[in-house]
Amino acid sequence: MDSTGFSEFVASRRTTRDFLPKPVPEKLIDQLIADAMTAPSWSNTRPFMVGIATGERRDRISKEFLNRWKAASDALNSGIWGRLKLLITRYGLPKSDYRVFRPYPKDLKPRQQKVGADLYGFIDISRDDRQARQAQWGRNYEFFGAPVSLFIFTHSGLGEYSVSDAGLFMQNLMLSAHAHGLGSCAQGASALWAEPVRKEFEIPRGYKLLCGIAIGYPTDHKINQFHAERLDIDQIKLLPND
Ligand SMILES: Cc1cc2nc3c(=O)[nH]c(=O)nc-3n(C[C@H](O)[C@H](O)[C@H](O)COP(=O)(O)O)c2cc1C
Repeated sequence: MDSTGFSEFVASRRTTRDFLPKPVPEKLIDQLIADAMTAPSWSNTRPFMVGIATGERRDRISKEFLNRWKAASDALNSGIWGRLKLLITRYGLPKSDYRVFRPYPKDLKPRQQKVGADLYGFIDISRDDRQARQAQWGRNYEFFGAPVSLFIFTHSGLGEYSVSDAGLFMQNLMLSAHAHGLGSCAQGASALWAEPVRKEFEIPRGYKLLCGIAIGYPTDHKINQFHAERLDIDQIKLLPND
C-alpha cells in the first residue's frame, strides 16, 4: 500500500452501528488481536487485557445491560418518583470502573453536540424526540446487533499510560477489522456497568474496564453511511508563542 492508499484506508474507517448476526470466525478475531498487538506500548508492557464475548456469553451480558438500561431510562422518564426509585433500588445506576459519563468541558461540548445532532438528524430522529433518541442509544446494549463484543481492561498501575496504550491497541484492532471487511464500534456505553462483564471473565487484580468494542459484519442500514465531520487540523495545532 502506498502513502495515498494508507490515507484513503484510514479515512474510510467509520463507526458501524448496525451489524448482521453473521458470526465472526474465532480465528479472525484472534487475527485482529494479533494485529492490534503490533501497536507501540509503554516499555512494551501491554498494560491491558481483552475479554471476548460471543454466543451465550455475549447474550448474557447484553441481556443484563438491557435490563439495567431499561430500569434507568424508565426511571428517568417517570419524574421525581422514578428517580427516587432508581436511587433506592440502585438497579440501573451507573457502576463503572472508570467514570464513563461526565459533563463535557465548555470548549468540547459544541463538538459533542454537533456529532449528536448530525447523527440523529442523519437517521431522521428529531431533536426533541427523546424516546427515539433513548431507543437509539439503547441499541448500544445489544451491541447494535454485533455477534462479538470485546471488553478492554487496563492495568491501573500505569495510570494514563495504560489507557493510552489501550487506545493504540484499539485503533489497530479497528483498522484491522476494517481491512478484513468487518465493522466496529468502540463503546464507552459498554463500560457503564462493570459487574455483568466482570463476572464473565477471570480478571487479574488491578484491571479496570475501560470500554467495549462491538465487532461484526455491517448491514446496509443508513446509519452505517454516517460520516462524523472531521475537524480541520488547524483546530488542534498549538500556536507557537513567539
Ligand atoms: C473510546 C470511545 C468510546 C465510544 N463510545 C461510543 C458509544 O458508546 N456508542 C457509540 O455509538 N459510539 C461510540 N464511540 C464512537 C464515536 O462516537 C465515533 O468514533 C466518533 O463520533 C467519530 O466517528 P467515526 O468513528 O465514524 O469516525 C466511541 C468512540 C471511542 C473512541
